[in-house]
Amino acid sequence: MTNLNTKTDPILIDMPMPIETPRLTIRPAMPGDGAVVYEAIEETKDALKRWMPWINAHTDVNHTEGVCRKAYADFILRKDAMVYAFDKETKNFVAASGLHRFDWETCRFEIGYWVRKSEQGKGYATEIANALTRYSFNALNARAVMIGHADGNEASKNVITKLGFDYEGCTKCAEKLPNGDIVDSHSFSRINLDGLPDLDVRWQT
Ligand SMILES: CC(C)(COP(=O)(O)OP(=O)(O)OC[C@H]1O[C@@H](n2cnc3c(N)ncnc32)[C@H](O)[C@@H]1OP(=O)(O)O)[C@@H](O)C(=O)NCCC(=O)NCCS
Repeated sequence: MTNLNTKTDPILIDMPMPIETPRLTIRPAMPGDGAVVYEAIEETKDALKRWMPWINAHTDVNHTEGVCRKAYADFILRKDAMVYAFDKETKNFVAASGLHRFDWETCRFEIGYWVRKSEQGKGYATEIANALTRYSFNALNARAVMIGHADGNEASKNVITKLGFDYEGCTKCAEKLPNGDIVDSHSFSRINLDGLPDLDVRWQT
């Protein structure tokens, strides 16, 4: 059903899930995920409060459950693709990620991510962003995939650099951090998979 160069109703575009990587199962955020995601957000609050503006709206588990349900609706409507990554062995929630701010005419997708504190520094963000990059080009016929980070977010910059994205440039005063500071934003992109580190990534075809 996927035909991204016509006026296909986006709801008919296939987005095969789950995505399997060596260590993770990645699938859309769904109703019922609220409790585990809330727990991971609480664990990771300090880092999230530094970089993720949505943390200011994070109040209680019901809010998080609402976010999961809306995300699932948006996934079905093909308006946004928020995904959660779970450890294949323990089944524990590891990270949130997704393809955002896309439209099906340009087929340019933006990857975002955060990893729960207890799982940071183990290469998970790099594994997830690699997988979503492959998925974007091979399953969704992406023309471009971008990742951005706020000025000063070195951990995110390292993920992007390790994946060989090209630097597009700096947009001045483009990001409002949770504390209200306005900072520059750095954008990186790929237009193909050339040079992307090897990774065994699968999804249903
Ligand atoms: C950014 C983030 C997603 C990285 O997740 P992660 O799973 O720890 O990332 P990875 O382990 O795949 O890779 C991170 C790399 O950055 C390095 N790194 C981590 N913190 C760093 C820091 N403060 N400064 C410099 N490098 C750092 C790690 O050592 C690693 O590099 P290495 O593999 O060469 O050792 C995580 O720190 C996070 O969730 N931060 C809060 C939310 C956020 O900032 N999201 C990104 C918004 S653009």
